[in-house]
Amino acid sequence: MADILKWTADLSIGIELIDDQHRRIVEFINRLNEARETADKKAVGDVLAGLSDYTLSHFGFEEAAMKAARFAGLAQHRRGHERFARQLAEFGHRYALGEEVDAELLDTLNKWLLNHIKREDHEYMDVVKAALSPQQLAQILADLAPWPAAASG
Ligand SMILES: [Fe+2]
Ligand SMILES: [Fe+2]
Repeated sequence: MADILKWTADLSIGIELIDDQHRRIVEFINRLNEARETADKKAVGDVLAGLSDYTLSHFGFEEAAMKAARFAGLAQHRRGHERFARQLAEFGHRYALGEEVDAELLDTLNKWLLNHIKREDHEYMDVVKAALSPQQLAQILADLAPWPAAASG
């Protein structure tokens, strides 16, 4: 099945660990689209739960990295993450009540993710890259373990 979201170079922020996480979130969105196309309600719920877990962990990692790098825009960036986390929780709630949320969810994910990575995440990249080595970033990630499973398939 065709992926609805393609990884493109303008999504890269040049920090390997974070690009990798963003790629996995893109994968989750594509898996969600597949579940929707096959009208598999259980799969939609499973992918939504996995995506929510993974995204929240990713937010936690970005915030820890921004904090370690003393990035001045951390509080504002965190508010954006929190708003999106509330939206995800709301979708999960509606799904649990039996509502068909997948089309709206995919639309929201697509728009939000692309905008957030291209704008907000690009704002911290220079500061984080200058302040932290790949080893330091890997240590920050290790300190946040356990990390949820990536999208399968
Ligand atoms: Fe991000
Ligand atoms: Fe972010």
